[in-house]
Amino acid sequence: MEPKPIADPAPVEEPGPVVEPLPVVEPGPVVEPGPVVEPEPVVVPVPDPVVPVSPAPGEGGNELAQPDAAEQLHEEVEAELAAQAPEPAARPRRVEGPEWRGIVLVTGTDTDVGKTIVTAAIAAAAQAAGLRVAVIKPGQTGTVLGVPTDVEQVQRLAAPHTARTLATYPEPLAPLAAAKVAELPPLELYEVVDAIRAEAERHDLVLVEGAGGLLVPMGVRPSGEAWTFADLATTLGVSTVVVARAGLGTLNHTALTLEALARRGVPAGVVLGAWPADPELVHWANLSELVPHLVGALPDGAGGMEPGVFRRSAPGWLTPALHGVIDNWRTWADEVH
Ligand SMILES: Nc1ncnc2c1ncn2[C@@H]1O[C@H](COP(=O)(O)OP(=O)(O)OP(=O)(O)O)[C@@H](O)[C@H]1O
Ligand SMILES: [Mg+2]
Repeated sequence: MEPKPIADPAPVEEPGPVVEPLPVVEPGPVVEPGPVVEPEPVVVPVPDPVVPVSPAPGEGGNELAQPDAAEQLHEEVEAELAAQAPEPAARPRRVEGPEWRGIVLVTGTDTDVGKTIVTAAIAAAAQAAGLRVAVIKPGQTGTVLGVPTDVEQVQRLAAPHTARTLATYPEPLAPLAAAKVAELPPLELYEVVDAIRAEAERHDLVLVEGAGGLLVPMGVRPSGEAWTFADLATTLGVSTVVVARAGLGTLNHTALTLEALARRGVPAGVVLGAWPADPELVHWANLSELVPHLVGALPDGAGGMEPGVFRRSAPGWLTPALHGVIDNWRTWADEVH
């Protein structure tokens, strides 16, 4: 597939609902990361353990293997979530708080964690709240004829006002490597920055989906050095959504990503890409650990929903920061599937 050069993007303008455009939040000041001398403390706090993760010496037996262990943890986590959040009002309500507007980057703890589906959900919720939304994928790799690109998936599920891919490369590699292999022009940092800022002039919310995880080489700077999605966040001075898995291994990957963002001064929130229909012990334990950072959690299967159902459901998967209605994780856990 031929790459789409940044100079000649082909924006997909959908005639979305006519809404009164809200003021576009100006992008924050440019924050270039300096050399990090003192690493920030680890971001993810370690709350009191909800349950013993391993049996205490002398207790013997593997408690986690017992079939009712997950159920017991579920109940204990629910009790903890109830203690962390206020009792729900009779009807869902929006919590007062700053909503994320302007430019928001969507990264993940890895590839295939659900960045595209989460981007679509945020776009759908924001549009339902009356915002004009643009979605940009700077570097789409691994393009296969007949398989929808990320932007095409977002277009189908959420139909934002604008959805653009800046460059496509056929090989399923990081964008810079894919550009080199195909001998195509790599993404240039400031051309990407300019394209994103141009959309921010015309939209209330611009969601930018990365490729793979935070530190994947995306393209080149004018100096010829590689730049990453973290560099894009600091250059734009904007907040970042970190999409994470719900299962085993996610705590380490999420903590690493949040720490990398925190040491660069980038505000971040976490969204679980796919919460299983039948959560196990590990999912409840991870949820309990990640709740302080959570700004959303999508049910597994969300990506396969009919678009109308997806759009109506999306606000129920996101907190008010992301234009949704979750104000109580216990209620969410009861209702998500
Ligand atoms: N909540 C969900 N419901 C259903 N399917 C999902 C969900 N989240 C992710 N998936 C599926 O998992 C796969 C990976 O999701 P997705 O393409 O959103 O990941 P990604 O993080 O955007 O990956 P990439 O790094 O390639 O952009 C896809 O097949 C997608 O349909
Ligand atoms: Mg994607």
